Amino acid sequence: MEISLNLLPESERRHSVLKGMDSLPFGKLRCDHMFLMDYADKTWSNPRIVPYGNFSIPPGAIALHYGQAIFEGAKAFRHEDGEIYTFRFEKNAERLNRSAAIMCMPSVPEEMQIAGLMRLLDIEREWCPTIPESSLYIRPFLFATEDALGVKPSEKYTFCIMLSPSGPYYAGGFNKTVTLLITEQFHRATPGGTGAAKAAGNYAASLRAQLFAQSKGAAQVLYLDASNTYLEEVGAMNHFHVLKDGSLIIPEFTDTILRSITSESVLELLPNARQEKVKLSDFVSMVKSGDIVEAGGFGTAAVITPVGKYITDAGDSFAVGNGSIGPITQELYDTYTGIQKGIIPDTKGWLA
Ligand code: COI
Repeated sequence: MEISLNLLPESERRHSVLKGMDSLPFGKLRCDHMFLMDYADKTWSNPRIVPYGNFSIPPGAIALHYGQAIFEGAKAFRHEDGEIYTFRFEKNAERLNRSAAIMCMPSVPEEMQIAGLMRLLDIEREWCPTIPESSLYIRPFLFATEDALGVKPSEKYTFCIMLSPSGPYYAGGFNKTVTLLITEQFHRATPGGTGAAKAAGNYAASLRAQLFAQSKGAAQVLYLDASNTYLEEVGAMNHFHVLKDGSLIIPEFTDTILRSITSESVLELLPNARQEKVKLSDFVSMVKSGDIVEAGGFGTAAVITPVGKYITDAGDSFAVGNGSIGPITQELYDTYTGIQKGIIPDTKGWLA
């Protein structure tokens, strides 16, 4: 399908706002254009790139009432050679369709997601930042637009890709460790639910827990499974920890955990990384005894975020190692971001 273009004249483009900025917020800036495509009568049509602007959707659009809305997060980087490289976007395209299946939404042809993004990046290349810890954040999303109040899957959808030149997700970036609250009061997902989908509603449901965590001095909640026995994920990140022997452990993916592409990449990159069920009681005693020496989170936006300390509902507080960034987390961060930025050779073929 041919992508139609309705582009702003060069004089109305705003990418020069990046000049002179030495740090970027996460997700606040917008590029000039977006990619759109519509679904109706079981068919995708009208792929187009248009100026970034408001949608016109009916007040009865199903996404607004029953939450049929999913999204992705990916990144592109400008390398020394001046070219823009995306990182494993095909994995995002695939995951969007896994989320779509869980949410009874139509799949978006992966080749159209990729073609739409490539064309958009070509137009917006001047927006790709080079400031340390920054990237061009890519936000594909799919939402239901049928005007219907009966609870049922929508028959109409819009797929959009918008771009945002962004800095680190957590202010302070990699160099600042975060505190996580281990709580039994909030759960992100239950078996048989939609926890494995990158569904908007999962993030809405996490807000109460996030505000609670922040009121206790933590950045986020470390979610447990519904029986409060096993570690699950952090909400905007998967969780990991490092044992004294250097093994890196990520909780096993289940239907209550989102499969982070960063986690999957780390599992491919490190021979001593593996997944297993992580029992909360073992985890806490091993952090306290020093058998767990490092911990953190993996996510596209948050990249690799080191955890310095955990706090609990009961007011317990304990550091991981000496509470600062450990050598394995540091080396992994340098390698991973080095590949993304083209400083370390991309032997896995992850950049395109
Ligand atoms: C990402 O890591 O890209 C995400 O989509 C998480 C988001 C909530 C910022």
